[in-house]
Amino acid sequence: MPPSDQTRLLIVEDVPQVAHYIRGLLEAQARVKLLEVLTEGGRAIAAINEMRPDVVLVDALLQGRIKGPKLVEQIHEASLGVPVIVLTVPQNPVEPNPELGIDGVLSMPFSGFDLMTRIAQVRKDHEARQTVGSNLLMSVFSPKGGVGKTTIAFNLAVALAQMEQRTVLIDGSIQFGDLRSLLKVPVDAPSILDLPTDRIAESDLGDVLWRDPSGIDILLAPPRIEMAEMLTARDIEKILSLLRRVYTCIVIDMSCQLNDINLAFLDASDAIIEIVTYDSTTIHSTMAIADTFRAIGYPASKVRYLVNRSDSSGGINPADLERALGRVPEHKVVSDGRLVVQSNNEGVPFVLASPSAPISQDINRTATELLNAGRMSAFAGRS
Ligand SMILES: Nc1ncnc2c1ncn2[C@@H]1O[C@H](COP(=O)(O)OP(=O)(O)O)[C@@H](O)[C@H]1O
Ligand SMILES: [Mg+2]
Repeated sequence: MPPSDQTRLLIVEDVPQVAHYIRGLLEAQARVKLLEVLTEGGRAIAAINEMRPDVVLVDALLQGRIKGPKLVEQIHEASLGVPVIVLTVPQNPVEPNPELGIDGVLSMPFSGFDLMTRIAQVRKDHEARQTVGSNLLMSVFSPKGGVGKTTIAFNLAVALAQMEQRTVLIDGSIQFGDLRSLLKVPVDAPSILDLPTDRIAESDLGDVLWRDPSGIDILLAPPRIEMAEMLTARDIEKILSLLRRVYTCIVIDMSCQLNDINLAFLDASDAIIEIVTYDSTTIHSTMAIADTFRAIGYPASKVRYLVNRSDSSGGINPADLERALGRVPEHKVVSDGRLVVQSNNEGVPFVLASPSAPISQDINRTATELLNAGRMSAFAGRS
């Protein structure tokens, strides 16, 4: 059986007879793999983080320091992304309510069939809920360096997380990633290369993502330049489809080239946020890229132009920019040299450090516009 079809189960149960009975039911089959039976509620959250089970079974009558209902509540509040089945007795009826973290209920006595079907159903419902909702993959791109890709990708990701989106930022500059130094991440922090590529599972993600204090998870680029060669376009596809199952927003900070890796990022994107500035060489390369995108077959609606430093036109007439792009740019972010330099130097997003600054408001508005466009399925290739 393919491992992804196997459900990894964690049980929190302090009555040895019940644990023994369930172990017996699970013994002669391969669909559900019992990871462990915890007898203490206090260890549950750490164990879920470590083992990343697909389903957790909690006894409603669990005794000890943390009682059953309290534990269910804790798991729910920790947003661990794991569905919970509550095990109870007829004298203590419990109603299933996913909003409260009770994804399913199993009442004693139950058969092996009851157990298996409940586990399967809870896992399926949970996965369905995760893939519904608009999950958005956006690459922040420009054929020119130094236009603000990294700055905007980072702050946009944090803005999306502030809007209750579970957000991951990918350092797509595989060779010369900037996020490590921007965020002052330790050299030994794991990178995209630490993901096993033959069989990546959701459970591997927790180990390789950097949890930034700003509230987003970050998939870092390899620490050394030559390591970039170890990654293939096929790896990128796999990694992105996995991240799509876990996150509602994926933001990629891209590099400028159009190589295989970058095309894999762009192909998978629902939207390409292309940064332009009032600068004649940038405008020129932007037009060249538009031709390339057309040749590849990307619909024009896949690209959304973002004018960075929109208030410093440097003598270029905004109408000329619009003419070159063939439309009015979708998004605008003003210039704020002092704030951007200071927050980048400190490794903090300006949207958090200075939320009322005009530049932060521009990023927040852009985030809202992107979410709305995603909800309306306005992006190309989404239905
Ligand atoms: N809106 C802005 N206002 C002021 N400075 C900016 C703005 N956007 C980017 N910068 C500055 O421009 C430089 C390049 O930005 P960066 O995000 O590293 O670009 P890229 O990733 O495209 O190379 C940085 O020094 C950054 O501080
Ligand atoms: Mg950059």
